[in-house]
Amino acid sequence: MMKKFLNRVFRPCPAYAALGLMVAMAMPASGNPASAQELKLDPANVAGPDACGECHKSSVAVWKKTRHAITFKELSRKKEAKKIAKNLGIRRMKADSACLSCHFTSAVVKGKVKPIAGITCESCHGAGKKWIKEHGDYGGKGVTMESEKPDHKIARYAKSEAAGMIRPMRLYKVAANCYGCHTVPNEKLVNVGGHPAGSKFDLVAWSQGEVRHNVWYSKPNDEASAARKRMMYIVGKALDLEFALRGIAKATRKAAYAVSMAKRASAARKAMNKVAGAVKTPEIEAIVAAAGAVKLKLNNAANLTAAADKISAAAEKFSDAYDGSKFAAIDALVPGADKYKGKPAP
Ligand code: HEC
Ligand code: HEC
Ligand code: HEC
Ligand code: HEC
Repeated sequence: MMKKFLNRVFRPCPAYAALGLMVAMAMPASGNPASAQELKLDPANVAGPDACGECHKSSVAVWKKTRHAITFKELSRKKEAKKIAKNLGIRRMKADSACLSCHFTSAVVKGKVKPIAGITCESCHGAGKKWIKEHGDYGGKGVTMESEKPDHKIARYAKSEAAGMIRPMRLYKVAANCYGCHTVPNEKLVNVGGHPAGSKFDLVAWSQGEVRHNVWYSKPNDEASAARKRMMYIVGKALDLEFALRGIAKATRKAAYAVSMAKRASAARKAMNKVAGAVKTPEIEAIVAAAGAVKLKLNNAANLTAAADKISAAAEKFSDAYDGSKFAAIDALVPGADKYKGKPAP
């Protein structure tokens, strides 16, 4: 089973990747009474976790125990949350508030946009309505994973990605979602609200604990392979750097937000330099060069964004081009099981 998954994992098809990206970046549907806040997913295309659960029962069972699911019920009861909301003049966190974009998933229910759950399957795999049928259909009744024709499989994946699905094999794209929330790129939320300015997020440590749900292609819930963890480590540090640079570019004053983004960028840059000392590829060289050439300071948005764009392109290319099997030289840098965030489901 694992081998099958790996075959699946490392077969990039760039033409559709570009298309998928366009779909993934679609803004909330106009015409809907959508939130004034910038939602990360188009609510009109959100199917909701129950719809995924019709087939992915075990993934949903794992997810329900994570902070991602629990925040839906618990956030508004928390003292710290109430304080942040009060600082920002927010009355109801589930109404049209600055909390919606990261803590909740909104969908269209009876013609109205409203939060239906916490951070869901679709927060990481893309809003699902346009690909939910296609992505798991091996070619009609009676056709199985084993008997599916190879060209049908290629077309199925291509169509699903073009319709906005973010497949696990697209490590850069799936992980970019994590950083879009976990770096907390919102100056007002941090400086005025007093929200934590992003955590010490690490892609390996934070994906291999409670979030881990490798329960579809393999059972039990296997840890990612050593090779996959190397890829996660490198792609994760590149993303950290990219999002920190974008975060600094958005900063307007020297306060908690800007300082924390600059610290994040500086730490990620150091980590990337270490990686570059052990693993030589043109993409890693490009990342280190782009990061080294830019000043981490206010009023430097154009340069910071240009550097972030270069890092993004190189990191995505890197993520699609290698499988990590030759990168054992960085094993000492990759966090071990004692660092995993939360307990993985059995
Ligand atoms: C009708 C059943 C069904 C539903 C509903 C469904 N899936 Fe799937 N899903 C499948 C099948 C079957 C596969 C395995 C496809 C394969 O073997 O290539 C799959 C595979 C996946 C994969 C791994 C794909 C890969 O590239 O290896 C992800 C991620 C996924 N589904 C997410 C979702 C999400 C998110 C939802 C809800 C929006 C959802 N699925 C709803 C049947 C379903
Ligand atoms: C840009 C994304 C983002 C937005 C917007 C956001 N949060 Fe968060 N929030 C996070 C992340 C990510 C965490 C987890 C912290 C971490 O990474 O360790 C978090 C954690 C928290 C915590 C601590 C959680 C706990 O269980 O102790 C509170 C409280 C909180 N947020 C409240 C709010 C409130 C209230 C709002 C709206 C005013 C809000 N957040 C908006 C991303 C966001
Ligand atoms: C926080 C982001 C996130 C959420 C939420 C999430 N996934 Fe995933 N999912 C991932 C990542 C990352 C991987 C790849 C993990 C790896 O390579 O080790 C993945 C892998 C998968 C796979 C392939 C697993 C396997 O057995 O190899 C399936 C299927 C899947 N997800 C479905 C779902 C469904 C269904 C939900 C909702 C119940 C969901 N995911 C929620 C990020 C997420
Ligand atoms: C849509 C925004 C969003 C995305 C995407 C996202 N997260 Fe989160 N994550 C949050 C928020 C918000 C919290 C805090 C929830 C709370 O406690 O209230 C959180 C909490 C967590 C926690 C629990 C932290 C703790 O303190 O115990 C882990 C682990 C985690 N996320 C890992 C990931 C990983 C790995 C990815 C990507 C594969 C990811 N997240 C993607 C918003 C997001």
